[in-house]
Order: sequence, then structure tokens, then C-alpha cells
Amino acid sequence: MTKVINDQSIIMVTGASSGLGRAICVALGGLKANVLALGRDAEALAETQMLVEKAGGRCLCIPFDLLKFDGYGKLFLSLKDQVPHLDGLIHCAGSLDRCTPLQYVKADDFRKMLDIHLAAPNLLTQIMLPLLRRAEAATVIFTSCDMLSDDLPNWHGYGMAKRALGYAAAMWHMEHPDKPYRFATLNPGKMRTTLFKRAYGGMHPNEVPTPEGAAEGFLRILAASSEAVNGKSLQLEDALRL
Ligand SMILES: NC(=O)c1ccc[n+]([C@@H]2O[C@H](COP(=O)([O-])OP(=O)(O)OC[C@H]3O[C@@H](n4cnc5c(N)ncnc54)[C@H](OP(=O)(O)O)[C@@H]3O)[C@@H](O)[C@H]2O)c1
Repeated sequence: MTKVINDQSIIMVTGASSGLGRAICVALGGLKANVLALGRDAEALAETQMLVEKAGGRCLCIPFDLLKFDGYGKLFLSLKDQVPHLDGLIHCAGSLDRCTPLQYVKADDFRKMLDIHLAAPNLLTQIMLPLLRRAEAATVIFTSCDMLSDDLPNWHGYGMAKRALGYAAAMWHMEHPDKPYRFATLNPGKMRTTLFKRAYGGMHPNEVPTPEGAAEGFLRILAASSEAVNGKSLQLEDALRL
């Protein structure tokens, strides 16, 4: 099934207060969509809301810490009566304190990477399933990175979690083969964001593109036919060809 994004579409984006997540929210606003923007920083979310509305869409801010797993049930309860359905769930939230060789990585840093990049998107998908089920057809997109396909050193839990997201989309798809929702994982490539500046200290941010081009890749997946994306891992250039 091919989806059309319009003023009836309701799409949740995590990591919406900054970088890629914000760029996707604004791009969705340009299609008049209704955006549920999730992040921790309420002021930054309000800025995203202003940009989405300026672009022509509507935006509800959801200040929420995705590392507080005990709060997921309450989050769902707060949304279930005001959100009629969820046509899309785009997982962009992420963080990286430092790149470290595995022999030196601290347990807390390692676990945090697995929690925010792997546990959170899967458990948020799980808790939001009833809202996704209410949509005619829904799409869930996990955001990976170059480690989706490349073996690179020093990325510890971040790289391992990002690699596993390709499997996550495939597993969700296999477990829901006949349902009107689909799952995909996208590597957006390097982008000029806060996370990039922290992770790639040796590279000048101007050497990489702003996140708007990658946001287009997410929109293409949302609009693509199920067969083209369901359960698959895509590089940005694959998504832009959809
Ligand atoms: N930039 C790159 O070169 C690059 C390359 C490949 C993949 N990616 C991926 O792209 C995604 C977006 O990253 P970005 O580059 O746009 O970085 P960014 O500008 O730092 O944005 C990260 C977002 O994640 C949110 N976030 C972090 N921890 C959170 C938590 N515990 N609960 C809720 N929200 C949280 C942040 O919001 P708050 O601070 O408001 O919570 C922020 O909105 C990440 O998954 C990243 O791994 C980035």
C-alpha cells in the first residue's frame, strides 16, 4: 500500500527538538501533516513547533525522556484519547557522549547507548502499537548510521545498537506480516548536527550536509509502497530513489 502524507496524517517524531528530528518535523509540516514532536527540551520543542506551523503543519510538543522506561505506559495513556491514530513513528532520538575503544568503555556509557538507540525505539514502538493499529496503514522508521553496514572501530554500544536496528525492522516485519503497517531502518549518512560535532571532533561540520536532505529520505519511505521498504534497511541514496 502506498501512503499519502497530508493534513489527515499524524506522525510522531522522536529527537524532534534538534538536528535530523527537527528537520523531519518541518518537512512534514510542509506537507500539512500533524506532528507529535518528542524530546526532553521543552523550549527547543516549542521552537520546532513554531517552525512546523510556519511550514503549514500542526504540532503537539511532547516533552519526554526516553530513558525513563517506566514512564512509557503513562505516555501512552496521555495520548490515547487525544490522538485518533498514528500513521507514522520516526525514531530519531539519539546521543553520544564519546567514542571509545571497547577495552576502555565505561559500563554506564555502553548501556546508555544500547538504551537510547536500541531499547527505546523498540519499546516505544511496542507501547504505541495500539495507536499505529488505528491507522489505515502505518510506517515505523528506525534511524541507523554508517555502522548499519560498515564495521568501524571505537563506536562501542552506539555502533552495535545502530547495526541491530536493521534486524529490528526485519523482526517487526516478520512478526506482523499481514498487518497494514511496515518497518524500515534508514542510514541518513553524516549530517551537520550537535551529535555530529560531538562524535566527529576531527571533521569540520561544513564538510557534511545539513539534515534537510536526509529528512527527504524519511518522507520517501513514508510515501513508498510497502513492498519497497517493509522490513528493509536502506541507505539514504536508496531512499531518495524511492
Ligand atoms: N549527525 C550525524 O552525522 C548522524 C549520522 C548518522 C545517524 N545519526 C542519527 O540521527 C539521529 C538524530 O541525531 P542528530 O544528529 O540530529 O543529533 P542531535 O541534533 O543531537 O539530536 C538528537 C535528538 O535526540 C533527542 N534525545 C536525546 N536523548 C533523548 C532522551 N533521553 N529522550 C528523548 N529525546 C532524546 C535530543 O533532544 P533533547 O535533548 O531535547 O532530549 C535531540 O532532539 C540519531 O539517532 C543519530 O544517531 C546522526
